[in-house]
Amino acid sequence: MRFLLLTGLWFGASAWAQSSAVSSYLATESVIAKAGLLANIGPSGSKASGAVSGVVVAAPSTNPDYIFTWTRDSALVFKAIIDSFARGEDATLRTSIDQYVAAQKIQQQVSNPSGTVSSGGLGEPKFNVDLSAFTGAWGRPQRDGPALRATALISYGNSLISASNTSYVLANIWPLVKLDLDYVAANWNQTGFDLWEEVNSSSFFTTAVQHRALRQGAAFATALGQTASVAGYTTQAANVLCFLQSYWNPSQGYITANTGGGRSGKDANTALASIHTFDPTAGCDAATFQPCSDKALSSLKVYVDSFRSIYTVNSAVASPGAVATGRYPEDSYFGGNPWYLATMAVAEQLYDALIVWKAQGSLNVTSTSLAFFQQFSSAVTVGTYASTTATFTTLTTAIANQADGFVAIVQEFTPSTGSLSEQYSRSNGAQLSANDLTWSYASILTAVTARNGLAGDNWGAAGLVVPSSCSTSGTGSSSGGGSSGTVAVTFKVTATTTFGENIYLTGSDDALEDWSPTSTLILSAATYPVWSITVNLPASTALQYKYIRIFNGVTTWESDPNNAFTTVASGTQTLTDTWR
Ligand SMILES: *[C@@H]1O[C@H](CO)[C@@H](O)[C@H](O)[C@H]1NC(C)=O
Ligand SMILES: *[C@@H]1O[C@H](CO)[C@@H](O)[C@H](O)[C@H]1NC(C)=O
Ligand SMILES: *[C@@H]1O[C@H](CO)[C@@H](O)[C@H](O)[C@H]1NC(C)=O
Ligand SMILES: *[C@@H]1O[C@H](CO)[C@@H](O)[C@H](O)[C@H]1NC(C)=O
Repeated sequence: MRFLLLTGLWFGASAWAQSSAVSSYLATESVIAKAGLLANIGPSGSKASGAVSGVVVAAPSTNPDYIFTWTRDSALVFKAIIDSFARGEDATLRTSIDQYVAAQKIQQQVSNPSGTVSSGGLGEPKFNVDLSAFTGAWGRPQRDGPALRATALISYGNSLISASNTSYVLANIWPLVKLDLDYVAANWNQTGFDLWEEVNSSSFFTTAVQHRALRQGAAFATALGQTASVAGYTTQAANVLCFLQSYWNPSQGYITANTGGGRSGKDANTALASIHTFDPTAGCDAATFQPCSDKALSSLKVYVDSFRSIYTVNSAVASPGAVATGRYPEDSYFGGNPWYLATMAVAEQLYDALIVWKAQGSLNVTSTSLAFFQQFSSAVTVGTYASTTATFTTLTTAIANQADGFVAIVQEFTPSTGSLSEQYSRSNGAQLSANDLTWSYASILTAVTARNGLAGDNWGAAGLVVPSSCSTSGTGSSSGGGSSGTVAVTFKVTATTTFGENIYLTGSDDALEDWSPTSTLILSAATYPVWSITVNLPASTALQYKYIRIFNGVTTWESDPNNAFTTVASGTQTLTDTWR
């Protein structure tokens, strides 16, 4: 008894000391991180030279050369900025956010090695910082970018809708979101490169963020009266949720990061997916791998433990001690080192879990999460522990202490300037690879928000039911994909335009946007004056369509009557028209 009491006091005192050291580190570092992040954004960021307005430079580093803008990194960085703006923390961020929206509108239309906007170009991973296409060899496509961008833009759109600015959202944000979500709906079941740009297969992070984007996209479309899009996004979201389950490895108790790649599959990919799909209204739901779900907690422990003995800086510290973690244990890039954003993601997942347990007033220990919880109390058994129990207090106190421990590792290896590179050395913690990585800074800001109990938006994860059998069919949308019962129809129209004017297609089918005068089916001018687009349409179906011109927000329709045709039974079809 006396021994236990002393142990408890000692533990309590050291946890308290760590907690206050971490609080004071984060108070300073979050200011540096915010400034460091904004410094990497054009046009006026002090380290963003050459970047046009609204463009996020991945890092101001020439060796390795990170002076590019990645769709994924930019979306994650702006999601953090948008959430801060939406919480009312800093109204001056609005200018940057509007510049980001304007930049993405341009970037979406840039033809690149992955295709045009209507033929797969949205899956291009990175662009030059003047928004021209990057044409060198690269791991492309990467299909998480459009989903993450849609999520960031929807978050901004929702905050503007709350401020009664819906018409602006409909005219300026919805068209961008629709392009990205139509791409996700049509292509989620195709392989692509993972977030580390190395493995070409299906990837948990990509699938998880695609699911989130489609769910919140359906709600966003509904809020904006864009009903033609809702069913397609909802159908594909259910299909994606079904596929998402397949990454779970029940015998080893972790989420396998990639279906390809020939590695263990233990990867920061899965903790990052959990924090970027956190929805506190979903509780500890395991179907969406919420941060406090038994599957995500079990996976987190397996991932963290895989680094204990491989990095010298970890001195083989045993569980539940916090250690430096990297992307995945087999990593060899720059010698394979811990990454700040990976170690911070572990802390953030734990802070997110604490938010839900405290809100629900209980936590569950299941056979799947038992090993995770036994790190903190070897005597704990499967069961539900209310917040009034000693077990709840013991576990949540120890987990908060472990979460702070991961931040304390980052603190230990932060130089006195507070600047954060991509990696810190596995042997001595010195900074390595690109300096001032924008995503490293964002990872500080999102973890602080979670530690303060403010993280997570309701994106519709609560109460979802996983379909009993997985399907890939029912594609509700057009560009880029393909599914049974559809044929690829190429529309070509000869039309002379003035600079800045574009030609769009609209017509009598969901895939032709149901005669929408704000159709986002923009034609490519690659063979000007012939404009073209390929759309997947239902086979053997009589359809009508028109081309429209949009210039400075003004829409001009072709003259009557409507163009009419019947789609072929299978294969492809080309229609050749002249604007009239
Ligand atoms: C709506 O939001 C946009 C983007 O920030 C802004 O330019 C516009 O002035 C807002 N309109 C209203 C009515 O608040
Ligand atoms: C497509 O979906 C099916 C059904 O979930 C799944 O078995 C298959 O692995 C998926 N393929 C890709 C590349 O996503
Ligand atoms: C990625 O994998 C797909 C399917 O296996 C393959 O068709 C494609 O060529 C691969 N891409 C690259 C760049 O290796
Ligand atoms: C614990 O499990 C019960 C029964 O499955 C469930 O109703 C409750 O929401 C769970 N609570 C948490 C915090 O996961």
